[in-house]
Amino acid sequence: MATETILFLLLLTTSSLLVESGDTNHVYLPCSDTKVQIDDGFTFAIAFAQRTSFIYNNSLQLSPCDRRLALSSANSQIAVFRPKVDEISLLTINTSSFSPDTYGGYMVAFAGRKYAARSPSAFVANTTYTVTSFTLVLEFKKGRLENLYWKRDGCAKCEGQSNFVCLNNVDCAIRTSSCKNHGGSVDCSLGIQLAFSGTDKHLSVLNSWYEVENLQQYSLYGLYSNLKDSLTSQYNNFF
Ligand SMILES: *[C@@H]1O[C@H](CO)[C@@H](O)[C@H](O)[C@H]1NC(C)=O
Ligand SMILES: *[C@@H]1O[C@H](CO)[C@@H](O)[C@H](O)[C@H]1NC(C)=O
Ligand SMILES: *[C@@H]1O[C@H](CO)[C@@H](O)[C@H](O)[C@H]1NC(C)=O
Repeated sequence: MATETILFLLLLTTSSLLVESGDTNHVYLPCSDTKVQIDDGFTFAIAFAQRTSFIYNNSLQLSPCDRRLALSSANSQIAVFRPKVDEISLLTINTSSFSPDTYGGYMVAFAGRKYAARSPSAFVANTTYTVTSFTLVLEFKKGRLENLYWKRDGCAKCEGQSNFVCLNNVDCAIRTSSCKNHGGSVDCSLGIQLAFSGTDKHLSVLNSWYEVENLQQYSLYGLYSNLKDSLTSQYNNFF
């Protein structure tokens, strides 16, 4: 398991510090193509911008790697991650100095160039509501990333919780005014659980997806003591 917090810059830097034993994937840029095997690192990124910035010519959902979207000249931020393939990870994006609502409030996860894959855009925050918990599934076919999508658990976890609002029957949201970055008391850092599905380049099946199915949306948080304090204890009986 790995917790990774990587800060925002439009520079998509590489870092040899991220190399671990067992990592045979030497592609470190999210806008590059690669094929991976279990235990490799895999680099992907998440872009924050307004929803329309992820659509070209009102119709095409292009990858943020596609220059036609011109995300770098839009009001946007990018976070880069390198989780280990087939290892359940909880990525965090600390929002103490970053308010998703001021960058358009939507996010898209992406990787690849010729074989570009991107997720649908997910609502994160506007001035009224903030969603802090997400599950992202990375689907590989023979080691190549084919698809990224957000898995939703619905609002069962927040029904009846006065601090939460259920948005569109899919997302548990808190009021943005409760967030520390808006003068409130709650750390609204984003937590993104990762799951891998499909096959690696040796056709080994990636299994972490099934574990997440059973774990469900919030179950990983308790494993990370630093997040537990900032993300979960504030929600008390939520967990
Ligand atoms: C944009 O979309 C319109 C209508 O679908 C199409 O006619 C036009 O060729 C497109 N422009 C570009 C640059 O793709
Ligand atoms: C975010 O950063 C602030 C300031 O460094 C820290 O107090 C807080 O615990 C961090 N939150 C998370 C979830 O890591
Ligand atoms: C914020 O988002 C929610 C859910 O999508 C929507 O109902 C609400 O109107 C939005 N508020 C603002 C100020 O945009």
